[in-house]
Order: sequence, then structure tokens, then C-alpha cells
Amino acid sequence: MKQIDLSGQVALVTGGAGDIGIGIVMCLAECGADVAVTDLNLEMAKVKVKEISEKYGVKIKAYKLDISIEEEVKSVFAEINKDFSGIDILVNGAGFASEGKNYYETSMEIARKTVDINIHGTGMCIKAALDYMLPKQSGKIVNIASIAGRCGTAGTANYSITKAAVIAMTQSVANAHAKEGIRVNGVCPGYIFTNMWKHGVEKYSKMLNKTPEETWKIMALDHIATGRAQDVEDVGNAVVFLASDLAKNITGQSLNVCGGTKFN
Ligand SMILES: NC(=O)c1ccc[n+]([C@@H]2O[C@H](COP(=O)([O-])OP(=O)(O)OC[C@H]3O[C@@H](n4cnc5c(N)ncnc54)[C@H](O)[C@@H]3O)[C@@H](O)[C@H]2O)c1
Repeated sequence: MKQIDLSGQVALVTGGAGDIGIGIVMCLAECGADVAVTDLNLEMAKVKVKEISEKYGVKIKAYKLDISIEEEVKSVFAEINKDFSGIDILVNGAGFASEGKNYYETSMEIARKTVDINIHGTGMCIKAALDYMLPKQSGKIVNIASIAGRCGTAGTANYSITKAAVIAMTQSVANAHAKEGIRVNGVCPGYIFTNMWKHGVEKYSKMLNKTPEETWKIMALDHIATGRAQDVEDVGNAVVFLASDLAKNITGQSLNVCGGTKFN
């Protein structure tokens, strides 16, 4: 049976203390990769790093990183490159979603923040990783986009715009560096009940006078062909596949992990 073996590889995960980020870090560590876990929330990253290193015995370390600040991105990537003697895999997991509002109602402050984190933050991390990957003519980048980037929706307008941009960025960067040993792919998760959803579900359950479970069914489960929400491990499994040699002929693609919510 084929197994994914990432031992000897160094992975850098942004948003690694978030719910999906932790799932990704777990899957990478389970496949033997050493992992640099970066996040705005250093305390949570440290807690998770301790748990995961005890479980899988790989080298793993937490770093504070705000991906929207260019100097911080450059200096933290340099520190990680030094600590781990290289960066082989970058997973862009950090992301921001504002409270669901349509485009007209969303302030420019929030619109700019969403663009700064989801588009420019992801882009700056790609550039910083390429600084270390291009000289070796080798590297794998996996961007966490979203099915929201496959089709705009009224209530998540800014978020959809930025995730569509991440899908396009994945194609552009993959195309530019395909002959230099760099593969760039994306994963588009569907509905996963993480921190990102909690406030929205709480707010709408009050408005609809329904339980959080009933509200989650209306907001998420009813849109999924399988009727089943995804979990963080589903995303982690897709990431390790795309980062592995099993995907050596796959680049510029974004894979929907959404139980058939979107078919494009
Ligand atoms: N939950 C879902 O249903 C879903 C669906 C599709 C895509 N996604 C994407 O998955 C990724 C993870 O989201 P999640 O659901 O686990 O949410 P989450 O809120 O649990 O995780 C997001 C993480 O990103 C970090 N972060 C936010 N801004 C940052 C910044 N400027 N610099 C560094 N880190 C920052 C947060 O601290 C947090 O740890 C995001 O990119 C999100 O857009 C989530």
C-alpha cells in the first residue's frame, strides 16, 4: 500500500494555531514532517506544539507571526529557515473572515483588512518562502482557499473576493515557477465548524430562534451534497497529498474538499 512519507521535510504552516491549521499540522507531523507552526496567537500555538510533538516525536516549534506585516514575515521565515535548515513546504492556512455582511454594508476598513490578510498576507508568505525554495529549485506550496472563492455569495462578499484571488494566485505562481521545481496548489474547504463560524451561528440562532445545531444545519449541512460537514483532518489529508511526491504532476490546481457543495 502507498504511504505518504514526509520525513526529512520541513513544513511551515501559517495560522497553525487555528482549528484547520492544527488539523494540517497534525497530518504533516503524522507523515513525519518537521513543522514550524506560526500564528498571531503564540500562546495557543505553543500549547498545540507541545501536544503534537509528544504524540508524533517530530521537531516542531511555535512562532508568533502576523502575515499582514511584511518585515515580520521576512524575519520569521529567516528565523525558521535557520532553525530548521530549510523550508520545503509552505502551507498558507492563516485567514480572516468578517461577520457575514453583503458588499454594500461592509466598511472599507474591514474590506481592506480582509484583502491585507487573505491576499497580500498569503502573497508575502509565498514570496518569503520562494526566497529559500528557488535557490534549491525545490518546494511545495499549498494555499488554503475556500469554496467561497468558487462563487460569490451575498453574505460573504469580501471573503469570497479574497479566496477567489487565492485560487488565481495559486495558478499564477504555479505557472511562473513550474520549471524551477516549485509546485503550488490550493485546497478549498467547504463547511467546517471552527472558530470562524462560531459567532455567525450564535448570531443567526438568536435571530432565527433556533438551536445552534438547527442553525448549522440551515447554514451549512443543507448545502452539502453528502449532507455531511467536513472536518479538519479532511483538509490536512488533502494538504499532505498535495505536498507529497504522489502529487508530483499536480500544480496550479485547487482541490475542493467540500462533500460536493461546489462542482467547479
Ligand atoms: N471553517 C471553514 O468552514 C472554512 C472553510 C473554507 C476555508 N477556510 C479557511 O481555512 C483557514 C483556517 O480557518 P479556520 O476555520 O480554522 O479558522 P480559525 O479562526 O480557527 O483559524 C484562523 C487562524 O488564522 C490566524 N490568523 C488570522 N489572522 C492572522 C494574521 N494576520 N496573521 C497570522 N495568523 C492569522 C488566527 O489566529 C487563527 O489561528 C482560513 O484560511 C479560512 O479562510 C475555513
